Formats: sequence, C-alpha cells, structure tokens
Amino acid sequence: MDKLLDCKEFTKESLLELYDLASKIKSHPENYTEELRDKVIAVMFFEPSTRTRMSFEAAIQRLGAKMIVTENGRTSSSTTKGETLEDTIRVLDKYADAIIMRHSRDDAAIAADKVSRVPIINAGSGKAEHPTQALLDVFTILSKRGKVDGTKLAILGDLRYGRTTHSLIQLISLFENIEIYGLSKETFALPEEYIDFMREKGIPYKVCKSFDDLPKDIDVLYHTRIQQERFEGDFGKEEYIINKETLNKFTEKAIVLHPLPRNNEISEDIDNDPRAVYFEQAENGMYVRMAILKTILGD
Ligand code: NCD
Repeated sequence: MDKLLDCKEFTKESLLELYDLASKIKSHPENYTEELRDKVIAVMFFEPSTRTRMSFEAAIQRLGAKMIVTENGRTSSSTTKGETLEDTIRVLDKYADAIIMRHSRDDAAIAADKVSRVPIINAGSGKAEHPTQALLDVFTILSKRGKVDGTKLAILGDLRYGRTTHSLIQLISLFENIEIYGLSKETFALPEEYIDFMREKGIPYKVCKSFDDLPKDIDVLYHTRIQQERFEGDFGKEEYIINKETLNKFTEKAIVLHPLPRNNEISEDIDNDPRAVYFEQAENGMYVRMAILKTILGD
C-alpha cells in the first residue's frame, strides 16, 4: 500500500496483513515509538472531526513522527481566499511526507492524488468514502467474532449520505458468505450504485422495515447518524433506535457498532451492555491508523 484513497485498493490478503500489524501494535505500542522518527505528516481537515483527526494525530505522535495541521481548513486555510484544493496540495506536498485529508468533495482524495507527489490518505471524502473508518470497523468485527467470513451485517440510519456504510460495504465484500440487511427511513435508503455493487459481488441485500425483519442471529448492528449537513431540509430524527428493548430482540452474540458521533440512534442505556462495542471500535481506530501510517511510510 503506498496511499489510501478508497477501499478498492485492498485484497483479502493485504487487509489481513494490515490487521496483523494493527494487532501487534495494539499489544505492544511501545515497540513502535521510533518507526517514523524522520517523517513530517500533514493533517488537513476541511470538515469537522473528533475521532478521525485526533486518532490520526495520536497515531502520528505514537510512531514518533511530527505533524503540521489545518484543523479547520474551510475557514482558516487559503481556501477562504479562493485557493483550489489542488493548489493547496501542490504546496503541502513540498512540506510533508504524506497528507491525511478530509474534504466535502466526493472526489477530493482522487483529485488530490492526481497532483500530489506524496501519499494521500483519505480521512473522509464527501458522502462517498471513508476508508480508514471501514478498516477499523472490519478490524473490530474480526477482533470480536474471530472471523469476518459469514458475517450477517445490518446497516442502519443514514445509508444515503453516510460515507462510512458506503466504504464498509466495499471492504466487507472481500470476505465470503456475507449477508447485508438495510434498515432506514426510505429517504435515507442506500443508493442504487451500492446495491448494484453487492449484486455483482453476489452479496444478498435485504431492505427491512422494522427490527423484526432482521434475522434474530444477526452478528453486527451498524448504526449511523443522519448526515444533516449533507442535505437541505429537515427529515426529522432517527426512528430506528437501538435501546435495551430493541437490542434484546437479538442474540447475545450481536455486537453494536457506530462510527460516532451518535445523536439519538443508540440509547445510552445500552452503553454498559457487553454487546455495545462502539467505544472500543473508536479505540481500535488509533491502532489501525498507526498500522496504515507504518505501512505507507515505514521502511
Ligand atoms: C463519521 C464521518 O465523518 O463520516 N465520523 C467518523 O469519522 N467517525 C460519521 C459521522 O460523522 O456521522
């Protein structure tokens, strides 16, 4: 891997190799503190972020690299003076050994990669892709289930504008016998292109209308926030809430994931249920991102 623009770059083998490294780093982070000692990494965020940016920054520091940061690129970078994304990249690639970027354009990472002399790492591009999130999501599924093959995955919430489910569908398709179930308001249904993608890959996709339509033995309930910032108008709050009552419709093995931040879609009353693993999932993000940086920039 020499850059990370989207989930298409992975094979099952390269993914499992990355996870092997992420697991080693998670068990012994102290062995990796000098890995990127001579590197400078640019962190350029044009959209809000807590976990992705801070876990990348923590990953950079824990690998011994240095960073230069635009935390609020939309208002504090030369974008406000009319500079194009491409020109910003043409300059940053002289200062840094890699550029981690989040942007509202669906094609942001691909456009940046076209003009960059250093690796681009996509930390979220519009509604299209969020590959590092999918990497940590599947890593968490693997850690919790012991395997990814045969996963029955339910995706909930904003399947239309949420980039995390779009990337997750693509990444999990590398495994065998995956079944995917969609539960969302009709307004937030999964776009046709992802349904076509699953059809081509032979992954069954079932659109559900209630929690009772999902199989009792579901393995993963992956909820997401309504992406209010990506559309005009107000389509109201989430209706399909995971709480004690709805979670108990499923077996003990069902894990609950969420990329966070959450709004009302997961009730705090399940936070202490062993099946609620979204905070552990966020923790895994740092180790997976350390593995990504080491793979791209290490010796
Ligand atoms: C997600 C994102 O930015 O797409 N957040 C994240 O990176 N963990 C999900 C969201 O904002 O709802």
